[in-house]
Amino acid sequence: MSDFLSDADFELYRKLIYDESGITFSATNRSILESRLKERLREKKLESLREYYALITRDREEMKTLLDSVTTNLTRFFRNQAHFDAMEKAVVPELLKLRQAERKIRVWSAGCSTGEEPYTIAMLLQEIMPAGWSFEVVASDISLKCLMVGKEGFYADSRIQGIPESYLTKYFDKKPGGHQVKDAVKKNVRFDYHNLKNDSGQRGLDVVFCRNVLIYFDEAAQKATIERFWEAMAPKSFLFIGHSESLFGMNTRFEFVKTDWATFYRKNS
Ligand SMILES: C[S@@+](CC[C@H](N)C(=O)[O-])C[C@H]1O[C@@H](n2cnc3c(N)ncnc32)[C@H](O)[C@@H]1O
Repeated sequence: MSDFLSDADFELYRKLIYDESGITFSATNRSILESRLKERLREKKLESLREYYALITRDREEMKTLLDSVTTNLTRFFRNQAHFDAMEKAVVPELLKLRQAERKIRVWSAGCSTGEEPYTIAMLLQEIMPAGWSFEVVASDISLKCLMVGKEGFYADSRIQGIPESYLTKYFDKKPGGHQVKDAVKKNVRFDYHNLKNDSGQRGLDVVFCRNVLIYFDEAAQKATIERFWEAMAPKSFLFIGHSESLFGMNTRFEFVKTDWATFYRKNS
């Protein structure tokens, strides 16, 4: 046991973070929470975890900073290519039939981290949507630091692996040390702060991507999040979760769909 984070304090913070965000800490990742708390105390020049607890329970901004600091933001462009193949070859062709009246597709990248996922979706849609159709990608996260990177749309050379050469020349401007997403792509992506613990208020979405986010939640928080997605989605719409995640055993109303490219979920009614 550590001198800094007692079992009682671990319990206190573990519960608070879970109640605020659904993010679950256990014995295995306790040390991550401990190091983040140490950083926050140092930053705020506080002596004890109880003082810091009193601060975050009255200061929403500091609470947001703590939540931001405990997130894992690993991502990359075209992460799990099979999902984008399924999007191109199965989901979008079906939506083009289903949404003839609206001629618009609305996608949500929930837990978008630094923007690689929503920009990948936007570039793909820009490539494949027929003339006369439009689309919108809403990108949300609980990490304000990540959202700032996403809004900026500048990616260092080390972070652009996985982007096909043709996309790189078409959708990015080369800048010293990296690549800048062009305005023509950015205009279709809207970044927004949103905590998946709450209802986003969105309705009628055609596709939701929530990949590699649910793994940080326990089963109850996963189920509640999936239920909120159901409410936010249009009848006959699609949900992608991470390839190591599953709704198996969760008793949801989503139908499991297996295609040649990837598996995903469908809201039928
Ligand atoms: C590992 S990243 C995944 C990024 C991207 N979806 C991908 O698959 O590459 C997980 C993201 O989920 C976000 N996240 C975790 N809990 C959240 C919550 N309660 N509400 C919104 N976003 C959350 C984190 O801030 C982080 O950026």
